[in-house]
Amino acid sequence: MMRMATFIVLLVALLSTIAPLPLEALNVRGHLLKSKTFLSPAFFLRPGSVSNKFYYDVPFPRGHLAFKSFNAEVVDENGVPVPLHETYLHHWVVEPYYALKNSTSADKQKLPKRIIARNSGVCKNTLGQYYGLGSETRHTATWVPDPYGIEIGNPAKPPEGYEEKWLINVHAIDTRGAIDKIGCTECKCDLYNITIDEYGRKIPKDYIGGLFCCYDETQCKVREGFNGELRKLFLRYTVTWLDWSDAVVPVKIYIFDVTDTSLPDGKSESACMVEYQVEECSPGNRAKNECIDVKVTKQMLPRGGDVVFGVAHQHSGGLGASIHGQDGRLLCASIPTYGNGEEAGNEENYIVGLSTCYPRPGSVKVSDGEVLTVVSNYSSDRQHTGVMGLLYILVAEQEQPAPKPALCFSFPVPWCLPSWLTNNM
Ligand SMILES: *[C@@H]1O[C@H](CO)[C@@H](O)[C@H](O)[C@H]1NC(C)=O
Ligand SMILES: *[C@@H]1O[C@H](CO)[C@@H](O)[C@H](O)[C@H]1NC(C)=O
Ligand SMILES: *[C@@H]1O[C@H](CO)[C@@H](O)[C@H](O)[C@H]1NC(C)=O
Repeated sequence: MMRMATFIVLLVALLSTIAPLPLEALNVRGHLLKSKTFLSPAFFLRPGSVSNKFYYDVPFPRGHLAFKSFNAEVVDENGVPVPLHETYLHHWVVEPYYALKNSTSADKQKLPKRIIARNSGVCKNTLGQYYGLGSETRHTATWVPDPYGIEIGNPAKPPEGYEEKWLINVHAIDTRGAIDKIGCTECKCDLYNITIDEYGRKIPKDYIGGLFCCYDETQCKVREGFNGELRKLFLRYTVTWLDWSDAVVPVKIYIFDVTDTSLPDGKSESACMVEYQVEECSPGNRAKNECIDVKVTKQMLPRGGDVVFGVAHQHSGGLGASIHGQDGRLLCASIPTYGNGEEAGNEENYIVGLSTCYPRPGSVKVSDGEVLTVVSNYSSDRQHTGVMGLLYILVAEQEQPAPKPALCFSFPVPWCLPSWLTNNM
């Protein structure tokens, strides 16, 4: 009895010291969160140049794991974060793939060397990534809330003879000395003097800007006589994970794209164009102060469940994006933050963060085959090329097990043991 009392006094003392932490942090500690920071292979940029490279078999945590977050930013050789007005981070994406273990059998048996392991969503040929962000990367949460996790490294998943590896694509544009920084980041074809795309196809006359004009090794126009050194840069990324266990509830990744009009158009195959163009508003709308471009589409969610996380992706000019259920209810709205300074993470006129949605578990439900509405708003104060309107959501299919009854005491005041402690008892 005496020992129990001592134990409780100690525990109360302990709990009062950790009490200010949110419950989430307690859960995390209970589950032994692990974290590691890596560098991508180096890429090299000079003023105006573009790097859009795919790095296969990048350093990544190995084993059967629950992916909890992925944060990334561009740094220089000394590990110093580089601001967006010097190196604009158009995007990075991270995606698993299955690599053939024995490459000699590739030639003999005509097996593919790599099979991309896409997310569970909605676009068939594009946007297969697990995570992906752009300029907003420094202030956008990627944390998968407890008790959820993205399952990776399950040894049963790769086809026979293959193993899971990871690829990262980094698309960065150096705008030091650019005659039109925004134009370079929006990939305006005339600034790049591009008439033929990466694959040798002629670019249509009405295509003014976008990814077809700022592919790897292209060059945006820089002021005459501007000198800037060749820079060696890296994507520095931090992965956070837990070992996979029954305590983790798996979530599926779905990425919705406002440019996919296949469902409203009555077509059977999804057609996610990834990018679109915002036209400058008419003088009439400008007079009425209505320079907002609202783009809306509908896409079908294959499998329902609980929405546990949501975030949008937009480019400069973006005013926010949202996703709604079939009855119009709001599932998630995500609003950009613009910087107002010079330093990395606060660059004026760039989107430096997007707000995220963490619904109370079980409070936002979606059903199998539900038709969702995607909305993306941009300022049409001026024209924008190559903009994006994506909505990324995580959905837990499995019903959550009922929580164990809490272990509570009434002395000296009413209090309960945190669930991570009682669950391990
Ligand atoms: C790789 O595949 C080739 C051809 O299928 C086979 O002859 C060889 O034994 C394999 N090597 C290993 C290490 O499995
Ligand atoms: C633009 O490209 C064309 C050919 O593609 C080339 O002849 C011309 O010199 C280029 N102009 C500039 C300013 O680089
Ligand atoms: C988008 O714009 C429309 C029309 O102004 C507005 O009703 C809606 O709330 C906006 N959505 C977001 C996410 O900003």
